[in-house]
Amino acid sequence: MAIISAFLQLTIVVFFLIAIAQTVEESAKWICTSTDLCVVDSAANIGDAKRFESQNDCRLSCGRYGAIWPMPTGDCNLSNERVRFDPWKVRFNVVAPDPATTQYLRESNRIFVSNMLKECLRNCSLPTSKEVYVKTTVSSNSLVLDWGTNETYQLSLRTTEMATFVDVKAQTVYGARHALETLSNLITGSKENGLLLVKAARVRDGPIYPHRGLLLDTARNFMPLRVISRVLDGMAASKMNVLHWHVVDSQSFPLEITRVPELQQFGAYGPDLVYSRVETQNIVRYARLRGIRIIIEIDGPSHAGNGWQWGPMSGLGNMAVCVNQQPWRSYCIEPPCGQLNPLNENMYGIMREIYEDLAEVNAPEETIHMGGDEVFIPCWNRTDEITRRMRDTGYDLSLRSFYKLWAEFHQKNLDSWDNVTQRQYARNPIPKSVILWSSHLTDPDIIVEHLPKERYIIQTWVESDKTLNNDLLLKGYRIIVSTKDAWYLDHGFWGRTEYHNWKKVYDNRMEVHPLVLGGEVCMWSEFVDQSSVEARIWPRAGAAAERLWANPKLSSLLVQTRFLRYRERLLSRGIKPDAVIPKWCVLNEGQCL
Ligand SMILES: *[C@@H]1O[C@H](CO)[C@@H](O)[C@H](O)[C@H]1NC(C)=O
Ligand SMILES: *[C@@H]1O[C@H](CO)[C@@H](O)[C@H](O)[C@H]1NC(C)=O
Ligand SMILES: *[C@@H]1O[C@H](CO)[C@@H](O)[C@H](O)[C@H]1NC(C)=O
Ligand SMILES: *[C@@H]1O[C@H](CO)[C@@H](O)[C@H](O)[C@H]1NC(C)=O
Ligand SMILES: *[C@@H]1O[C@H](CO)[C@@H](O)[C@H](O)[C@H]1NC(C)=O
Repeated sequence: MAIISAFLQLTIVVFFLIAIAQTVEESAKWICTSTDLCVVDSAANIGDAKRFESQNDCRLSCGRYGAIWPMPTGDCNLSNERVRFDPWKVRFNVVAPDPATTQYLRESNRIFVSNMLKECLRNCSLPTSKEVYVKTTVSSNSLVLDWGTNETYQLSLRTTEMATFVDVKAQTVYGARHALETLSNLITGSKENGLLLVKAARVRDGPIYPHRGLLLDTARNFMPLRVISRVLDGMAASKMNVLHWHVVDSQSFPLEITRVPELQQFGAYGPDLVYSRVETQNIVRYARLRGIRIIIEIDGPSHAGNGWQWGPMSGLGNMAVCVNQQPWRSYCIEPPCGQLNPLNENMYGIMREIYEDLAEVNAPEETIHMGGDEVFIPCWNRTDEITRRMRDTGYDLSLRSFYKLWAEFHQKNLDSWDNVTQRQYARNPIPKSVILWSSHLTDPDIIVEHLPKERYIIQTWVESDKTLNNDLLLKGYRIIVSTKDAWYLDHGFWGRTEYHNWKKVYDNRMEVHPLVLGGEVCMWSEFVDQSSVEARIWPRAGAAAERLWANPKLSSLLVQTRFLRYRERLLSRGIKPDAVIPKWCVLNEGQCL
């Protein structure tokens, strides 16, 4: 008995000694080199360099921007020292002009705490921790989130012997929530109890572009709500502010329009594969608490079919034509075919009901995307009902006539949209601009004739070597850029398209011009669904997020270490990004360039 006990004691002592040795060794292994790499110290490097307990600890302040993604556009000064703290010792103080903004900031704090706790590596409670006071001051009572919203913020952090003080100042709640996102980038897990926080910091920051978007297509393949929420979580972590929801297309119409239940009854893949009105309202709310607008696209006249087939049986006539028609190559660009009937007044009536619903579920200031891409003239031209009515009303069958018809489709819908929003939100005096995809109708030579620049914003989706963006800017149009050969996240999975890796996404430079509102990466869903969409989007969308936030001069080569840390942060928040490099290269910075 005594022998066993002595043996046990010895074993415990030995374990203890090994544990101490490891702590000492591991607690100070990492250094930040003069070229901003976090590496394990080797004999050659022994000097008085500051030591860090882990690579992530080192990364918090290595390089001008530390671990902050996207990079701040103003001052960024981060201390090499750390405070170890207990996340339950973080205290919040909100100074805001009214109850609505106060409530918003309390919710932001809650989201921040939940993200912070995800950084905990082991037991995060630390009885010896001092308090961390986070004070947020917002001056404007506006909750409007659009292209005019001021998203800038200032963050300062200092630590005294008493406590740590974080001071956030912003004009709007949206700037303030970005500041909390930055603050979360100044925190990392620790090998011991508690979390590590940069001991002092000063950051001034604000985005270059007001439109930093991601398109998500839920029509080709349905995405459950939890997938959409996680996409929004990833966008919030990346300070992206627009989810362009391509919710319907010719394949399916999964959106409940309470005024016209037939759309979803005839158009959804199944009764469960629908976003109810309440769910849509919840998505909008969830997004806005994360600084994100939802712009809903009802594509037309093309990319519309299923969901619109019930006209004849309800006495409303053919609201869409060429629906599911074969051989599809004669009627559309991608099966199943379908194109709205621009000469059926009932179709405009239904469109107006859709707008009534959308205006109600979304924020008062929000606009819509009207689609307008890939109109296939032969579909209309091969439909007797349309060509007959065209001839009767004085059109010939020239291309010019069809463009006129197409433009009138948009104009009539715009009139409905104006009518709906001006009645629902009578206090918004200026009619809202809507968004359209670039198309034949937006060719620089003919756009002016059809689409007034005060009312239509053009989302371009051409290759980077095309001149369309410049041509439209010269004519005074506002644009949103979705460079096809860099920002189409579905490429590489169909036809002759090539996959664009994160570096290609990052290096997609755009002009800084007051009429360039920003850009969007596009996640079309023909070849992706809930089981793989996160890895298809992330971390690549984050590369676009930094391009849009900061328009950096640096190339992707110089930001890789910070990007890899960003990817890891997505992982800790429960998102499943694709891998971009072997783990060995992550651990051995600078060895795989
Ligand atoms: C950055 O912070 C340190 C420590 O607070 C300070 O000494 C230094 O002047 C600051 N640098 C800049 C550029 O503000
Ligand atoms: C975490 O650490 C605290 C303080 O060191 C201790 O009181 C607590 O029991 C620990 N919790 C767990 C789950 O280990
Ligand atoms: C945004 O708000 C800040 C104050 O937080 C102000 O300094 C800045 O000028 C504002 N920017 C614009 C474009 O209004
Ligand atoms: C439409 O069809 C008619 C005859 O079928 C043809 O003459 C005309 O060129 C077509 N229009 C367009 C724009 O293709
Ligand atoms: C909106 O449309 C209705 C019905 O067509 C019409 O009576 C009303 O005058 C319109 N309102 C506006 C502001 O255009």
